[in-house]
Amino acid sequence: MRPTVPGLSDIDLTDPDAYVPGVPHEWFARLRREAPVYWHPDEESVGGGFWAVTGYDQCATVNRDWQTFSSMRSAVYLWDMPEEALEQQRLIMLNMDPPLHTRYRLLVNKGFTPRMVAALEETMRLRTREILDRVAEQGSCDFVVDVAAELPLQVIADLMGVPQEDRHRIFDWSNRMIGGEDPEYALTEEDRAMASMELYAYSSELAAKRRLEPHEDLISVLTKAEVDGEVLSDLEIDLFFLLLSVAGNETTRNLISHGIIALHENPGELARLRADRSLMPSAIDEMLRWGTPVMNFRRTATRDTELGGQQISEGDKVVFWHISANRDETMFPDPYRFDIGRSPNEHMAFGSGGPHYCLGANLARMEIRVMFEELLDRFPEFEITGECPRLRSSFINGIKHIPLRVA
Ligand code: HEM
Repeated sequence: MRPTVPGLSDIDLTDPDAYVPGVPHEWFARLRREAPVYWHPDEESVGGGFWAVTGYDQCATVNRDWQTFSSMRSAVYLWDMPEEALEQQRLIMLNMDPPLHTRYRLLVNKGFTPRMVAALEETMRLRTREILDRVAEQGSCDFVVDVAAELPLQVIADLMGVPQEDRHRIFDWSNRMIGGEDPEYALTEEDRAMASMELYAYSSELAAKRRLEPHEDLISVLTKAEVDGEVLSDLEIDLFFLLLSVAGNETTRNLISHGIIALHENPGELARLRADRSLMPSAIDEMLRWGTPVMNFRRTATRDTELGGQQISEGDKVVFWHISANRDETMFPDPYRFDIGRSPNEHMAFGSGGPHYCLGANLARMEIRVMFEELLDRFPEFEITGECPRLRSSFINGIKHIPLRVA
């Protein structure tokens, strides 16, 4: 018998429509207060529901204790998958547990050392200036499509070694794969599968070219990499490509979008940042806490355990909500205030120090910094002139469009 909590039955965290008007923070606040580890009924879930973990400390435990809370067993998404699909998902590092995860992670780590990331800054700044030049010429733009999406796309493409002319195909594929629940991207399960197939075909082709003629890029590194004495298969390389395309594009795009909205809605904080650029690092952390582009990840219990006073059974689905942890009032005083000087700010937007802690965190911070430095230098004024429709998704905290006028 699962515990029920009276008064919480109107909450449905899985409903993508609930996120269209805005993140349902009121639900999360009630859950944190009344049941920070809550048995959330859900007809779609195998087992009739899942544990919704919303308190900061409990989320951190689930994120860090990989022995008890596995990423590999049923992958890391809110939705369940049939075993055949899981088999493929388990070839993606995000859905592995140590020690296998550690071996794969070491391979790609080479592309993300502080030195490698620092080497990207100059090109990144040039790309940002080009993007903002186009906006300046027009005087207005759709900030999400023309600016926020554009930079991460260029950066991932530079990192992976995708030629300039193919870059928008990656954008289209990653949109089609992740925007799955939103009617604007209008996708069926087949469309989604088709988008990933196209991306795989592309990456296999690129890998084949790099085997013949290696470049200084991550794809070339992967073609030579070995796990336990064996080189990676085409499928493994394709899946790395897919992970980096999705993980590096959607997230950073949405963070930059939330950042500009937050600054626009808080003119005092914008003025403070303009007046004192040394606040940039803490402003970026506050944008990350505020925007939390990835709202949740799932784990599966590998043994019976106790969490936040609840008995969790082996095999239970456990979903932890970064978006809720980042508004936990016991951790962040006045959590609904956007404060660019907030300190300390131990947000969980990149994870909470577990083995999967965001591989691209340094790179993402640099992209966000370069973007806002250039934006503030370039435009003494900007204004959001209309609605900013949100992505219909219970997974990604996404903004689809931001009409922006600049001066
Ligand atoms: C604002 C931007 C970003 C956010 C909010 C974000 C968030 C996250 C989160 C929450 C995780 C899971 C952490 C965990 O479970 O402990 C993650 C993992 C990951 N991220 Fe990011 N990410 C961002 C940017 C990027 C970029 C730019 C890249 C790559 C270019 C990237 C690549 C990855 C990869 C490969 C993983 C999986 C790591 C693993 O399984 O070991 N991310 N990210």
